[in-house]
Amino acid sequence: MTLPLQDRVALVTGASSGLGRHFAVTLAKAGAKVAVAARRSDRLADLVEDIAALDGHALPITLDVTDADSVTEAIRVAETELGAIGILVNNAGIVQAKPALEIEEADWEAVVGTNLTGAWRVARETARHMVRMGQGGSIINIASILGEGVTRLLSTYAISKAGVIQMTKALALELARENIRVNAMAPGYIETELNRDFFATEAGQALIRKIPQRRLGKPSDLDGVLLLLAGDDSAFMTGSVITVDGGHGLAIP
Ligand code: NAI
Repeated sequence: MTLPLQDRVALVTGASSGLGRHFAVTLAKAGAKVAVAARRSDRLADLVEDIAALDGHALPITLDVTDADSVTEAIRVAETELGAIGILVNNAGIVQAKPALEIEEADWEAVVGTNLTGAWRVARETARHMVRMGQGGSIINIASILGEGVTRLLSTYAISKAGVIQMTKALALELARENIRVNAMAPGYIETELNRDFFATEAGQALIRKIPQRRLGKPSDLDGVLLLLAGDDSAFMTGSVITVDGGHGLAIP
């Protein structure tokens, strides 16, 4: 049986944990060869093993999205080892909670530098590579419902994700002629190891009650959109932002 992404090459940034790890496994199950990228590639050993156990193929690569040389080198290694990258999941990101007036330059640099500048850098370099290879491709930026709405204490994060949404549209427009599609997924709150403890607290439970579906998302709730955007079923989609949030973004607090 031919799998939907059979022999496609995907690059997933921030693949050592959380959603990035899950995206890598999902793409591998669909047949893609996946370059799994993280700042410390030694943290990727068990992911590579898990993917191998599913008869998939993953290549661990070192990547810091805030470092231009690291990005160029990661793409070079992926190209040499796996061939032309056809799918980018631009997932690496950080969150920092602080009142707006306490945010220092370094805080801004860290969050915007990773989530927006870093994502732009990886998208640009991967798109340059895709143009060089001449086979087109699909870039999937991981935004957030906080790229459209805002909440207290997360201004740098929300600003960076709003930038990711505009970047998606701007790149989609310019890259359409190169057969490169650029779309974004905007998840609501998805339960991962990092936030599980918070969502077990009273404040976390109160937040869940504000979500119309009254539950957190699971990483697997994102699989449908990930596979849609990665594969040929979305051939005529570019510049789209798809929200996956259980209705969270609809609710006026
Ligand atoms: P996470 O913290 O588990 O994953 C983020 C990954 O990015 C980590 O592996 C981290 O090492 C990596 N990373 C951070 N800085 C990096 C850098 N400079 N270079 C390379 N890698 C770097 O968090 P999670 O939840 O899996 O988030 C993944 C993406 O999904 C992020 O962009 C986040 O903003 C987004 N998102 C997450 C939601 C959630 O509820 N979990 C909701 C909406 C969006």
